[in-house]
Amino acid sequence: MATGLRKGLTSYGDAGFSLFLRRAFIKAMGFSDDALDRPIVGITNTYSDFNPCHGNVPDLIEAVKRGVMLAGGLPMAFPTVSIHESFSHPTSMFLRNLMALDTEEMIRAQPMDAVVLIGGCDKTIPAQLMGAASADIPAIVLPTGPMLVGHYKGEVLGACTDCRRLWAKHRAGELDEAEIDAVNGRLAPTKGTCMVMGTASTVACMTEALGMTLPGAGSIPATHADRIRAAEASGAAAVRLAASGTTPRQIMTPAAFRNAFTVLQAIGGSTNAVIHFTAIAGRLGIEIDLEEFDRLGLEVPVLVDLKPTGEHYMEHFHWAGGVPRLLQELAPMLDTAAATVGGVTLADVIAAAEQVPGQTVIRPFAKPIATGGGLAVLRGNLAPGGALLKRSAATARLMQHEGRAVVFDGLEDMAARLDDDALDVTPDDVLVLRNAGPKGAPGMPEAGYIPIPRKLARQGVKDMVRISDARMSGTAFGTIVLHITPEATVGGALALVRNGDRIRLDAAARRIDLLVDAAELARRRAAWQPPAPPPGAERGYLRLFLEQVTQADQGCDFAFCRPPAPAPADMREP
Ligand code: FES
Ligand code: MG
Repeated sequence: MATGLRKGLTSYGDAGFSLFLRRAFIKAMGFSDDALDRPIVGITNTYSDFNPCHGNVPDLIEAVKRGVMLAGGLPMAFPTVSIHESFSHPTSMFLRNLMALDTEEMIRAQPMDAVVLIGGCDKTIPAQLMGAASADIPAIVLPTGPMLVGHYKGEVLGACTDCRRLWAKHRAGELDEAEIDAVNGRLAPTKGTCMVMGTASTVACMTEALGMTLPGAGSIPATHADRIRAAEASGAAAVRLAASGTTPRQIMTPAAFRNAFTVLQAIGGSTNAVIHFTAIAGRLGIEIDLEEFDRLGLEVPVLVDLKPTGEHYMEHFHWAGGVPRLLQELAPMLDTAAATVGGVTLADVIAAAEQVPGQTVIRPFAKPIATGGGLAVLRGNLAPGGALLKRSAATARLMQHEGRAVVFDGLEDMAARLDDDALDVTPDDVLVLRNAGPKGAPGMPEAGYIPIPRKLARQGVKDMVRISDARMSGTAFGTIVLHITPEATVGGALALVRNGDRIRLDAAARRIDLLVDAAELARRRAAWQPPAPPPGAERGYLRLFLEQVTQADQGCDFAFCRPPAPAPADMREP
């Protein structure tokens, strides 16, 4: 199967000369003929001084290389885009598709028989899986792993659920300057990804359930020796994948996506993962049916007790048995015949799961933390293309609620007026943020976690119904309706809401509706003007993004990156 350096030799019309030239250049690095005649395993180097979530990547690359060589292959690390949540203006989502394009084309451009994708921070593994799905050469994901927890005055701290909580305390005057500075140094105490069940951890666990990592690789802490050993094992597994020729398309089947989405419900994971895994599946012509995902939510209980909705952190989940132990509880709902990159089936992974007496992080199926899954899919006249509600993070009393709309036209408008004491708002109102979707902001920022207006926060109001076409950080919580599709900027119904309109959320009926009659909505639609494009939209990547980005129900992938004629497969098919 393996073709080594001979792969992709077409550029000079003389294959012999092309190979001769290629060998001549690569020998400048000191490689022997023996090394160059082996199967080549590419390793994505996503190290960046701007990306602490990937701070251990150099160590992981060394270990992957060792694993590749022990298994008889030649490892070749190569750089790709690296994305960290805090260093990605305007948003990391804006850059995800750029990383997916980069990863796909560099896998395709360079001679490699398999690739190890080292990623971790929220958008990176999704981007890598999108790219690998399209390139479709043998691939295995190695997450960088979660950071360890921090400690402050006897309290356990987790990035970044506690970032928000403690900053709010500081704003309220409960933590002084010196205290918040001390906290700042301890929220992210090691390299690695956020250690709550935010987007990074959600994606890592789902990728493991999807079969694209070795067992345990989704949760081993970033700093542990086991993480290095998982890297070595991933390198060796990549050589075996090169030999067998097993490609991502053979692992990432409709059944495998269903398994991954089952895990998403059971971990009460991040809403962002729905967009990312829809995009990954879309690359393979697999349509994720939101109604089917919602039905999964009715059957799958929340079993994992992790922040932001529960008590524990990723290291505790790992030592409780991690994803294999969770899969064991979910086994009756899974397709356990699904293949994994380790060469075994999910049934084999489950059979080998570690049993940890007395652990309380992964609950038995019969004694869940909550029934009815973490995420619900809403429809209604405000969201004909769907919207998401993270039930596990919402307030029960607000799941059935009707209120007056208080509308913000975009992020700037919200920033300017939200904390104004003159804002006409009551705790029963519905806060509406629009023009914050894929094209709107652009890049669908995590602005859906609309802060409680200051004058209400001072009265002790902790939660309100908030709706938007934006996303929300996986580490946030509240009764928050997200990803309203189509977004306001392209003329979705959200664009037609006016201050004082009535909006009804009915989570049980899975509906979010604007209670304005159709004739009035038609009048408003006729008068609607799209907002002006953002500065810089005439050229470059922003232009490409605005022209090509799809709505949330298509994973916000670029339209031209999806296969031309999607196969009629969905999650239900075996
Ligand atoms: Fe990278 Fe949270 S900022 S995982
Ligand atoms: Mg995040």
